[in-house]
Amino acid sequence: MCGIVGYIGSQPAAPFLIEGLSRLEYRGYDSAGIAVLTPQKNGQPAKTTAVRAVGRVRLLEEALPQRMSGTVGIGHTRWATHGPAAERNAHPHRSEDGRISVVHNGIIDNAASLRAQLAAAGVELSSDTDTEALAHLIARSPAETLEEAVLSTLEKVTGTYALAVMDERHPDRIVVARSGSPLILGIGEKQMFIASDAAALVRHTDQVVHLDDGELATVTAGSFRTFDRHANTTDRVPVELAVAAEDLELSGHEHYMSKEMREQPDAAEMVLRGRLDERFATSRLDGLGLDARELRSFRRVKILGCGSAYYVGQMGAQLIEDLARLPADAEAASEFRYRQPIIEPDTLYVVVSQSGETADTAFAVSEIRRKGGRVIGLINVVGSTIAREVDGGIYLHAGPEISVASTKALTNMGLAFGLLALHLGRLHDLSYADGMRILKGLERIPGQIREIFASEPHIEQLALQLSTAQSVFYIGRVRGFPVAREGAQKLKEISYIHAEAYQTSELKHGPLALITERMPTVAIIPDDDLTSRNIAAAEQVLARKGPLVAITHPGVDLAPLGVESIVVPKSEPELDPILLTIPTQLLAYHAAVALGHDIDKPRNLAKSVTVE
Ligand code: AGP
Repeated sequence: MCGIVGYIGSQPAAPFLIEGLSRLEYRGYDSAGIAVLTPQKNGQPAKTTAVRAVGRVRLLEEALPQRMSGTVGIGHTRWATHGPAAERNAHPHRSEDGRISVVHNGIIDNAASLRAQLAAAGVELSSDTDTEALAHLIARSPAETLEEAVLSTLEKVTGTYALAVMDERHPDRIVVARSGSPLILGIGEKQMFIASDAAALVRHTDQVVHLDDGELATVTAGSFRTFDRHANTTDRVPVELAVAAEDLELSGHEHYMSKEMREQPDAAEMVLRGRLDERFATSRLDGLGLDARELRSFRRVKILGCGSAYYVGQMGAQLIEDLARLPADAEAASEFRYRQPIIEPDTLYVVVSQSGETADTAFAVSEIRRKGGRVIGLINVVGSTIAREVDGGIYLHAGPEISVASTKALTNMGLAFGLLALHLGRLHDLSYADGMRILKGLERIPGQIREIFASEPHIEQLALQLSTAQSVFYIGRVRGFPVAREGAQKLKEISYIHAEAYQTSELKHGPLALITERMPTVAIIPDDDLTSRNIAAAEQVLARKGPLVAITHPGVDLAPLGVESIVVPKSEPELDPILLTIPTQLLAYHAAVALGHDIDKPRNLAKSVTVE
């Protein structure tokens, strides 16, 4: 949820650190800081200059001194976990004498006891954070080298981390370590970059090394050496970065969310590309790591994800039940990890994550694997923690997603579930004809998404009306219910309007009491065998003077009701939820714009939730 950057080379470090932090700000944005080492003349130890500020990176930049010429530096953007967003809690954290500076992503589980031991030893702690303990422990290590001091400190630590450490006594290096939180080295010409996310590196190099869990590295201006926790060298060869610089630009859009919503047709083409097999009316999913015999042996499918990924998981479960006739359900990974789930050998576990770094989902994966379950992942970020841990899966190929509110990745999750359900279906009972029907339906989706954007001005008008509400109901039934849940989530996330999703069928069992002329309802009314029931529920809302916006299909006659409708192209019934979700993104976006909110960095949230 935080971002790390580091630089060592011949140029002043601060400009890269600030630029890198602003690129990573979407990962956490309540405070930021940098520390830069300046070598001293006459054999004096190097001197650290550190600046930290509460709020956005822009405020940190304003607080920097005029001259900051050091060519070695580390930086951090924070999403508060231990202690409030205050300058004392912002990174870098430093040892009492200021010699050691540390930036850290992740959580040190035994921080309380480490802090207590340090306090008992007379150390004056100056923050509420877990990270500060690391700086003191490294500084107090009797080890000769910085590497040894970091290794011996990590032996005392439990938890997750990506770390970068600078030492005034060793100004020629930065030592980094990774365990459960990503860290990448960027290889430049006589300069090296460090980042927790490729977004900070992409303008500077395309040669990178993704550290593995349990790996450390010494990074100097001209080289790097990776090693394990026993100090044994691990030979790592740089690979080419998969992200292009222009993927991370706003490219004329006002917000990343707007850009990413519009990228959906192209992204949808990418997730489908090369994966549709007309000959056998199925999908080609080479990365699953499971052969046909293994796939046929599963009796059940369990889907796990968090937030919106969980809601798309619910769509996926229905798709799998419909097409493969295998019992399937979705559960929030954040809940799954805290109960005593029974891991069954004949269940296929599917985890869904844009970032591939969500801590709750990652934990669910390791728990399932420890107990012998098979897990596949529907993941967007290539090489992410979860992508590396699963047995196989489907990459979403949605491209980088910067806006905290996920859009194109969710659509591609829906499509990836379509591919998976088709694949499983064709290994079970799904006929060739039905397989072709789904395959053709998937093929049409990119074009149909484009059609939805043609109605954007109309959707914007409806969003303006919603933006004045205190609270909004989203209702949907069966396949429409996950659409309603995701719609309510989007509205809450960026417009801060309270929104609640309900099964349309449940309305009359309680929530109908809340319907008044001040409580709008967004109703998902697809053209399917439940249309007349959905219309009846809409009438019940209207009879109580509740304003209603319908998200519906051509051919559903809502004229007698006199309600506002958003008409979405019809797909195959099993795939309809993917398209029905798109207008809910636009409703939330335009409501939030009308309210003047920070669209891409909504309050209290972060793009990837790497803490519990
Ligand atoms: C989506 O708009 C949200 N920001 C959030 O619910 C997100 O989907 C969730 O945190 C899961 O993230 P992931 O897909 O990166 O695992």
